[in-house]
Amino acid sequence: MMSSANPIERSFELATTHCDDLTPLVYRRLFEAHPEAAAMFRTEGSEFVKGSMLALTIEAILDFAGERRGNFRMIECEVASHEAYGTPRDLFVAFFAVIAGTLQEILDEEWTVEIDAAWQKLLRDIERIATPDAS
Ligand code: HEM
Repeated sequence: MMSSANPIERSFELATTHCDDLTPLVYRRLFEAHPEAAAMFRTEGSEFVKGSMLALTIEAILDFAGERRGNFRMIECEVASHEAYGTPRDLFVAFFAVIAGTLQEILDEEWTVEIDAAWQKLLRDIERIATPDAS
């Protein structure tokens, strides 16, 4: 497999060598850290929503950390629509930190200082996009 020079991309690539599907790990971590988030998903049919929400979020992250062709704009749009249906902005932002934490756990020793720094920066940037008034 080609190894990406972009640390964010590389963290996802490395994760796929250990784990086929991040979905159960990410949502378990989300609901442990933020139990109130579990009740926000419908009981029926939410498995599909959870999987596609994560896939779209990862696409937006890769675009934001990479070429910025446009997918990253989804973050600004979704923060507003989620707020309208009851997901507070800080919880929305926390989803990105949950993804980072999941990757770090999967990568373990392969989680490098460079990958860590890139994620720290990305999380700060996302926070700025999602809560422009706070900073
Ligand atoms: C912990 C934080 C979040 C919670 C609790 C949450 C919750 C939800 C829920 C409950 C739905 C389904 C609405 C329905 O049943 O129709 C949904 C849909 C969706 N979410 Fe999230 N969400 C979170 C973070 C995010 C993030 C960070 C993104 C992307 C940047 C995102 C993108 C989407 C998209 C694209 C959909 C489907 C389309 C839409 O309803 O706008 N979500 N989310």
